[in-house]
Amino acid sequence: MNIAPRINELLPAEIRDLLFLIGALADREDREVFLVGGMVRDIIMGRGTVDVDVVVNGDGPSFAAALATLTGGSIVLHDRFGTSVLILPDKRRVDVATARTETYSAAAALPDVSFTVIDYDLERRDFSVNAIAVALASGEFGEILDPFYGQADIAAGVIRVLHDGSFVDDPTRIWRAARFEQRFHFHIDQTTEKLLRAAVRGDILNQVSGTRIRNEVKALFEEREPSATVGRLQDFGVWEALVPGLHVGAEAVRIVGAIASTGETLSVWLKPDWRVFNAYLMGLAVDGSAEAARGLTQRLGLSQHSRRAVIGAVSGRRQVLSDLDKKSKASTVHRALASYSDAALVFFYAAGKEGVRGNIERFLVNRQIKSLISGRDLTRLGYRPSAIFTSVLEDVRAAQLDGVVTTVTEARSLAQHLMDSRKSNG
Ligand code: CTP
Repeated sequence: MNIAPRINELLPAEIRDLLFLIGALADREDREVFLVGGMVRDIIMGRGTVDVDVVVNGDGPSFAAALATLTGGSIVLHDRFGTSVLILPDKRRVDVATARTETYSAAAALPDVSFTVIDYDLERRDFSVNAIAVALASGEFGEILDPFYGQADIAAGVIRVLHDGSFVDDPTRIWRAARFEQRFHFHIDQTTEKLLRAAVRGDILNQVSGTRIRNEVKALFEEREPSATVGRLQDFGVWEALVPGLHVGAEAVRIVGAIASTGETLSVWLKPDWRVFNAYLMGLAVDGSAEAARGLTQRLGLSQHSRRAVIGAVSGRRQVLSDLDKKSKASTVHRALASYSDAALVFFYAAGKEGVRGNIERFLVNRQIKSLISGRDLTRLGYRPSAIFTSVLEDVRAAQLDGVVTTVTEARSLAQHLMDSRKSNG
């Protein structure tokens, strides 16, 4: 079969032209070059796609270098795997790999690599739907190589591994299987599911590094609808195998499903660097104990800062959700929320009912309002900087939010009163 017409129909002109250019270069260098991976799968499914992934029989890096010269792009090299990443002038990324086989010296280890021809390269891949290659050399442009019947599996909507050891070799495929299944509304084939469950029971996840797991969990949350995948992974026992006590129940699935739209709703008020990933992790951990939340953040190797944000929000959620589920004074809302990260606010909003949501919106709007006075005003009033400053300024801000003081003069006189009474008490 030849999918050149589909390539013409589905891909944007610049990507199509890039594939032609790669094909022409393959001719000139007398090399076999193939398009592989998700782009092939997506074209066959009739979906548009942008990630260009090519495999070269022979010396991949030298082919990538020639392509960089032709396109004016630049190259990042990964020698061990014979893979180059080419960045084109328009910032588009092209992965150029050397056809290779992989053997695993230990379960869940990174593979030992040796270079080979395309058929073996396809054999090392995760699922049949991702193990299809398309020739790019001009005489055969668009010809499909499909040794594992990936096209038939695409037509039937099936996710199938290529061999029994696939999940043990690379346990990150457990996440990938669930992700592709839910993204495409496919189903995981029966034998594949048995192998997946056996791998989870076999404790293989303990051998995978935090970074690799974190990358998979991130990729999961970058899906358009991550919640069903999260639920499916719970059904497979993945979360509890990863972190003892991390039970991901219906509430967690619901919250994960609401995070993306919540982030959009609140986006104008949130700090530009807020971390949606942390909000998702809070959602994921909502049904478990604070201990499980701690375990999750540790297992994923989060920074100290993110760890604290996630654990704090999960531990504090009950209090926040019950305290804020009613109309409250602005200062009360401020006190309840001020210490939390923006990711936590998104999490509380996604988890909470109408009352909570209204209060969070009010908090975010009020946060933009500048305080009537600052520490400098207190020094101008003749006070020496001390620990009392913070509490006094907070109380003045609370009075401002509640409309008790409305002018700078009123704020100053309240501050003066508070400073004097606290100084005499202290
Ligand atoms: N691959 C694999 N095993 C993995 C990761 C990747 O076999 N653990 C192979 C698959 O052939 C996959 C290709 O590498 O198609 C590219 O991987 P990646 O870019 O991560 O995924 P895509 O399949 O392109 O999917 P997406 O649409 O999510 O980018």
